[in-house]
Amino acid sequence: MRRFKTTVVGAGNVGSTLAQRLVEKEFTDVVLIDRVTDRGAAKTLDLLQSAPVLGFDTKIIGTDNYSHTEGSDIVVITAGLPRSPGMSRDDLLKMNTEIVAEVTEEIVKHSPDCIIIVVTNPLDVMCHTAHRVSNFPKNRIIGMAGILDTARFRTFISMELQVSVDNIHAFVLGGHGDQMVPVPRYSTVAGIPIPELLAQDRIDALVERTRNGGAEIVKLLKNGSAYYAPSAAAVEMIEAIMIDKKKIVPCSALCTGEYGISDTFVGVPCKLGKNGVEEIFDVRLSNPELAMLHASAEQVKEQAALVNKVLDGAKKGRSDTKA
Ligand code: NAI
Ligand code: 2OP
Repeated sequence: MRRFKTTVVGAGNVGSTLAQRLVEKEFTDVVLIDRVTDRGAAKTLDLLQSAPVLGFDTKIIGTDNYSHTEGSDIVVITAGLPRSPGMSRDDLLKMNTEIVAEVTEEIVKHSPDCIIIVVTNPLDVMCHTAHRVSNFPKNRIIGMAGILDTARFRTFISMELQVSVDNIHAFVLGGHGDQMVPVPRYSTVAGIPIPELLAQDRIDALVERTRNGGAEIVKLLKNGSAYYAPSAAAVEMIEAIMIDKKKIVPCSALCTGEYGISDTFVGVPCKLGKNGVEEIFDVRLSNPELAMLHASAEQVKEQAALVNKVLDGAKKGRSDTKA
């Protein structure tokens, strides 16, 4: 029987933790690839040596050569640079656009039928980059952020109410940034909307903490960003696709009219199955909620214009070199 094959691009914190979670679950072969020679190989060897202790038999390859990724069913892009001191958001956007574009070209060459899950930041416009470069249909480009953002909201609600995280569903829309839109009305504890259980000032505090969830960890770590929860979120997406679960989870997907948003990747509730994003749920929002979502989508659109400039510049550079 042919086994499912997942490639993880970028063997840094998110990529290698994701590879670890996947091999331990045994449901997919894994290729871990990084541009730094031997980084993927080193992490893979270490993971393989944990197999006898943990008892898994998953096939895993660590490499810097895309030929090993051939025929992947899913490719997760975690390759990118973190923002370093003195670097503007726009500088980071330019550098990560170039990285994601280069990685996407290789993915398309070797796995033309795969589904791409993007993790690299700034998330929503990196989905735009992968979509533009790959020319894949929109259902096969999905951004991981909403599961992470809702997991953070769920964690904070659970801490506040001292109830199991299992009882909590949360709803977060919008771009993965400080303008994301947690929606308390649709966030529930055992089916009860949280405005029934918490005072408005406490809800506001939890919403704010969720919006700053990534930054809170960066501040504490001082050097790097979150990777345990992000890798767990990516596994949930891979599993939903692999087993055709038709699971509804928030992901960054290309909106083509949903919520009044066009041609923009933004976090929305998606049904994930074997074809990737099989449906986007266009849930009714109040006017203030919709206004916040539109503001968030506008921010993504502005960044997408910058990405387009970078990609157009690279294309022109290539044709000038040929001429
Ligand atoms: P990291 O710095 O630990 O790892 C990044 C890896 O990418 C490095 O090993 C680097 O060598 C590799 N890389 C860079 N350029 C490459 C290329 N062209 N080809 C192959 N590999 C390349 O960073 P970390 O913590 O793993 O984060 C990765 C990305 O994910 C960052 O952009 C980060 O901001 C983002 N992120 C996004 C989240 C989300 O919710 N969407 C959550 C957490 C992280
Ligand atoms: C996070 O939210 C850095 O986007 C990353 O943790």
